[in-house]
Amino acid sequence: MSRIGELLKAMTLPEKLGQLTMTASSYAVTGPVIAGDSTESIRDGTLGNLLNMVGADHVHEMQRLAVEHSRLKIPLLIGLDVIHGHRTLFPVPLAEAGAFDRELWQQTAREAALEAAADGLAMTFAPMLDVARDPRWGRGVEGPGEDSWLAARIAEAKVAGFQGADLGSPGSLAAVAKHYCAYAPVTAGREYASVDISERSVREVYLPPFGAAVAAGVAAVMPAFTDLAGIPLTAHVELLQGWLRGRLGFDGVIVSDYNAIGELVRHGIAADLTQAAALALKAGVDIDMMAQAYRLGLPPALERGLVRIEQVDAAVLRVLTLKERLGLFDDPYRRGRTPDTAEARARRRRLARAAAVRCVVMLKNAAALPLAGGLRTLAVIGPLADAPAEMRGPWWAAGEGRDHVSVVAGLKRALGEGRVVHAPGVEIDSAATEGIAAAVEACRQAEATVLCLGEAATMSGEAASRAHLGLPGEQRALATAVCASARAAGRPVIAVLFSGRPLIVPWLIEQADAVLAAWFLGCEAGNALADLITGRESPSARTPITWPRALGQIPIFFGERPSGRPANPQDHFTSKYLDVPNEPQFPFGHGLTYGRFTLANLRVAPARVTERDVIEVQVDVVNVGERAAEETVFVFTHDVVASVARPLLELKGFAKAALAPGESRSVRLELPAGELRFLGPDLAPRFEPGEVEILVGPCAERAQLLVSRIELISG
Ligand code: NOJ
Repeated sequence: MSRIGELLKAMTLPEKLGQLTMTASSYAVTGPVIAGDSTESIRDGTLGNLLNMVGADHVHEMQRLAVEHSRLKIPLLIGLDVIHGHRTLFPVPLAEAGAFDRELWQQTAREAALEAAADGLAMTFAPMLDVARDPRWGRGVEGPGEDSWLAARIAEAKVAGFQGADLGSPGSLAAVAKHYCAYAPVTAGREYASVDISERSVREVYLPPFGAAVAAGVAAVMPAFTDLAGIPLTAHVELLQGWLRGRLGFDGVIVSDYNAIGELVRHGIAADLTQAAALALKAGVDIDMMAQAYRLGLPPALERGLVRIEQVDAAVLRVLTLKERLGLFDDPYRRGRTPDTAEARARRRRLARAAAVRCVVMLKNAAALPLAGGLRTLAVIGPLADAPAEMRGPWWAAGEGRDHVSVVAGLKRALGEGRVVHAPGVEIDSAATEGIAAAVEACRQAEATVLCLGEAATMSGEAASRAHLGLPGEQRALATAVCASARAAGRPVIAVLFSGRPLIVPWLIEQADAVLAAWFLGCEAGNALADLITGRESPSARTPITWPRALGQIPIFFGERPSGRPANPQDHFTSKYLDVPNEPQFPFGHGLTYGRFTLANLRVAPARVTERDVIEVQVDVVNVGERAAEETVFVFTHDVVASVARPLLELKGFAKAALAPGESRSVRLELPAGELRFLGPDLAPRFEPGEVEILVGPCAERAQLLVSRIELISG
């Protein structure tokens, strides 16, 4: 019998339930602290998994209790939310999505895993794969943006990065694909609210990234807190057993979200913890995070016949199998044994800076950027100009704000201390305006102004929905005063926006000469922004989410289906608003560079395509600008006539071309025709003969796309 088979046979019920329990931990001066429990539970084998413990010494101290003092010596599984770096923070996931760079997505996950594993951890609650189309919801910042195909590519890269080639190696973490699924379309963008969307949307939009994660070998999956049409995901038999385990063949661990099993009572589908535990176990949830539901609820549930011991055993086996795959039985101290080196830390800082450079989206540039050389004085204004800790963004794991580079610090380093003047003007979110006069005065003395505005790091992430998506506090008053004074003096204002979501600031886009979306860039934020502002580097990122111009346009995304009455200004009874245009402020994929690119000569072959063919798409890209830069080329499709109306645009590929001034290149992409299958009226995948448009260009605005048509044929 296998090692874990033997163990299972020897386990008592409390020991089994311990393996199905994960509890929060931390370290106080007096020693380790377990939330609502004590380290005694580790010794007596009734607690098998921890979250939130940081530091190799602490982790090993806990591990020792399990493997040296508990009866069966089963190692602990210890996890943390390593979302965008562990100690070295990289750009937030939404920002990184906009780099459209698979290698970068994988590399930052790999480095985060190495760093977290050096701290003794074996699991990260990432990647977050929630396709998010409503920027009121704060958690869009943790994920891939609005597109499902893009999310699937990110899922593959992140799983490969976190888990490495061998899950058992000392530098690998078990990844947790979350939050399964359709958490983002919460009612009115309000965190934790109910979700009620079509089965087609679930299958077409929200499930594919999880399919990609499972295909990439993800070790674990976390169900969402939310319900889907009345059934909370934590108890969703059809989606967990039927789809995830059945259709996708996932045999890894399902770990609940924080207290999510207990919350089944509040959801109104369980009367008490016993019922809640039974529902979650039957749906396939293996580990109960923080609800105490399995330890307290499963014994009576077993007695009452609500669950069977075989169901408990199957869950225990999956948890032990993961521990075995992680190499924890062979050597529970393998992670955290070798301390992180100074060289590794320096390598990560370099990667953090390169990543941050690749994540800034230049939304507007009226010849204000890059800054002219020889500038004598630059004013760096705003509440986010000298705010190193804010640069972390939400979810900072073990990252400390102290070593983060602010914009002021980065620009001082780049231009020389004496050439940068700084005034915050206002706070991020307060009613005080006394500082505005001094900020305007500082701008008056300078030849150009960098205006750093936006949200605090904690205004996005979990439990951070917002109903107004403008700038908080008195930032608008500051920006208006600075822009007016700069305009009067004929000097440029460059706005840098920090946020975990698109902000709705049409007035700022109008008034500022250049606007950079910096999202949250992590520890090297200020250096990376200085690289871009001074022209050492060219911006190259593209927004992975549509920027609305008005709150009432939300949800706004490029993958909408056609209307029977498409907008027509000449016709009253068409699909539009009376008070705002339908068009967004910036479409998905928008992002300027210091080059200027033209795309021409789209070639698509073959013209007639069977399901087994590979479509070859080629386009010529020329940099007709005066600076070297990198262009991103997107490939979209549109199925013109189908048995189910298809979205106006579907993303199917992207490519990058870094070109010197005057240089041209033919960019080539392959699109397997099988990807043109869609879910028919019966929700079964089908390849339907007929015409399909192939659209290629720099963003999801149809007017900017080159179009070619192919014909799908059966056979
Ligand atoms: C709640 C969040 O929803 C989830 O994403 C996270 O992994 C857990 N808390 C653990 O921190």
